[in-house]
Amino acid sequence: MNKRKILVTSALPYANGSIHLGHLVEYIQTDIWVRFQKMQGHEVHYVCADDTHGTPIMLRAEQEGITPKQLIDRVWHEHKTDFNGFHIGFDNYYTTDSPENRQFCEDIYSQLEAKGLIAKRSVEQFYDPVKQMFLPDRYIKGECPKCHAKDQYGDSCEVCGATYSSTNLVDPYSVVSGATPERKSSKHHFFKLSDPRCKAFLEKWVFESFEGQSGTTPEAKRRLQPEAANKMNEWLSGGLVDWDISRDAPYFGFPIPGTGGKKFFYVWLDAPVGYFGSFKNYFEQKQRSQAEIDEFLRPGGNTEMMHFIGKDILYFHALFWPAMLKFSGYRTPTQIYAHGFLTVNGQKMSKSRGTFITAESYLKQGLNPEWLRYYYAAKLNDSMEDIDLNFDDFIARINSDLVGKYINIASRCSGFIIKKFGGKLTHTISETSRKWFNQFLFCELGEGDTFLGRHVSIAYFYDRREYGKAIREIMLAADVANQYVDRMKPWELARSGENDTELHEICSVALNMFRILTIYLKPVLPKLAIEAERFLGVNPFTWNDANSQNRLLPDGHQINNYEHLMARIDSKQIETLIKVNKESLQPTTQPSQTKQQVQIMEEKNSATPPPSSSPDAANVKGTASATIAIDDFTKIDLRVAKIIDAEQVEGADKLLKLTLDIGAEQRTVFAGIKSAYDPAQLKGRLTIMVANLAPRKMKFGMSEGMVLAAGNGSDGPYLLAPDEGAQPGMRVK
Ligand code: MSP
Ligand code: ZN
Repeated sequence: MNKRKILVTSALPYANGSIHLGHLVEYIQTDIWVRFQKMQGHEVHYVCADDTHGTPIMLRAEQEGITPKQLIDRVWHEHKTDFNGFHIGFDNYYTTDSPENRQFCEDIYSQLEAKGLIAKRSVEQFYDPVKQMFLPDRYIKGECPKCHAKDQYGDSCEVCGATYSSTNLVDPYSVVSGATPERKSSKHHFFKLSDPRCKAFLEKWVFESFEGQSGTTPEAKRRLQPEAANKMNEWLSGGLVDWDISRDAPYFGFPIPGTGGKKFFYVWLDAPVGYFGSFKNYFEQKQRSQAEIDEFLRPGGNTEMMHFIGKDILYFHALFWPAMLKFSGYRTPTQIYAHGFLTVNGQKMSKSRGTFITAESYLKQGLNPEWLRYYYAAKLNDSMEDIDLNFDDFIARINSDLVGKYINIASRCSGFIIKKFGGKLTHTISETSRKWFNQFLFCELGEGDTFLGRHVSIAYFYDRREYGKAIREIMLAADVANQYVDRMKPWELARSGENDTELHEICSVALNMFRILTIYLKPVLPKLAIEAERFLGVNPFTWNDANSQNRLLPDGHQINNYEHLMARIDSKQIETLIKVNKESLQPTTQPSQTKQQVQIMEEKNSATPPPSSSPDAANVKGTASATIAIDDFTKIDLRVAKIIDAEQVEGADKLLKLTLDIGAEQRTVFAGIKSAYDPAQLKGRLTIMVANLAPRKMKFGMSEGMVLAAGNGSDGPYLLAPDEGAQPGMRVK
């Protein structure tokens, strides 16, 4: 087999919001593809990173009273935990705020400049005179020039749907400070996409079929899916305009060389370059040479580069990115795969309906991540159509397909092998079983007797990202396996005890079928596959294990005890999931403009609603809604608490374990105040705690509330304390 060398990426999630089930469509889709290609024996490097720069992140950090670096560091850990929880097997998960990325950005910029592809000219924009910064459209609100609805964003009206330029807003104001923005001009740097060289290159690049190793059919050699190519056609024929790649200080990003720290690269310039930064960082960690890095990042290496993205960011990946690379001496993408958006129960994800579900909350509710992986796989195809997570369908598919058809084979047949045959399989197989087994292994191709190993068609579907078709084929095989067991009725043979040879054979064949189904499903269910490998007593599966030579385990092969591999979903679990995501909408106290603020000193406050995914929209809404109703405040049960014990927690960097007396009862709380307090000094002190917070299971034990402390990231935390006279248990109002 021709060994492919593939660099694979998923889009880099913004470092100011939580990973949600929409994001996971992409990471699960990519991960399945990567795992499949690795099982094939190809050399695959899957890299990703947090997308850390830009105005929303800068402002969010300020709101939280921390530095952007502290914010992106915290979010990096949150994202990494979420991705691990869903078994996303990145080879490297890095950050765009890295020295490698900066160096690539500077190099690309200087190469483009040397080729005469950078232009500089003045641009007039809205400027916030109080905050002293230029305002992206999403940070300006005002009255819609068409329908005169108040408080509309600078680019479009949510009431009448009109789109306009922010300069047309009536009575505009800055969302950041409330000031009336002024118009001010400044010099911007542009990538000259209008240059005829760019147009000529892109027109060719988009529509040519590439010289790669991916598959053999012409479709497999397309750079873009047909729908994406059509979009590109529209954009190209509409005429390309220069792309503004600079932003004025203050900005969180990389300074543009030669501008005296006054201009920064726009986040969308450094974001895709972050793929390279992550890859280089990864290869350097592995002590790979510069030549090996270049093989993937420079033209002429016999390697592929595949980007998985959502349809909303096609423009950046299929226009700017290849052109940028082409004219700065780097390789261009081999293929770009765009997927559609997730809808939940047929509608856009919505916070008020509780369908804006974070990855963290899904895992916290104890839902199995492989359920979601399987469901997405069953729904995904090679198109840019949206995919719907319908919860009734979700429950039905997991319970009937995955548990009912697949897991069931192992749970029905393993007991007999263990109890009656000492856990050993037989290899001897009758004519009847052979027929069933062949029906299981092969699918018929059209008319006549052309048969194809299912492993071939399933592999084809995985490679083409037609996972739904792969799953369909796998479930057809599972149907055959179940019909076989139903027809042969091993339980009756076991009861009569008359034909142990046949019982042994049927259960062995069935477990071999289970084994092969597991190979087929391994890219989708990596954790379950490991458990099944343990149960079957076999080495980690590769795709080749489903090949003709390896189809039955050898005579006398020893299996291990069967432990239940996957539970059914209970619809109550979904109800709770939706409920907690609705609750997380409860408004939180708005951080004030002063940097000192009351922070809840736990690792993470999951009550903050995740921001929208659109770059400039992110967090703007959070900034604007500055008040809460008194009812919202009274929902929080704040109590005076006496610290009766404080101890170090072994293995925890930030936490102390506090025992608190709140009058009627005692509570254990893990608080992130270790950096500032010696446990001995805390004993006997009074503080304030949130007493009605749902208990939370942490690595070190159950935390039954939170204590309050002030801080701004670099200074603090300072534990709050009531005035003298307050008694444990008193309510704070
Ligand atoms: N930071 C940019 C990408 C930079 S890549 C050099 C970004 N970040 S994002 O967090 O908004 O989105 C990350 C990926 O998740 C994108 O590909 C996006 O399309 C995808 N999705 C975000 N929300 C989604 C859904 N609701 N459904 C499906 N995919 C979604 O864009
Ligand atoms: Zn309007």
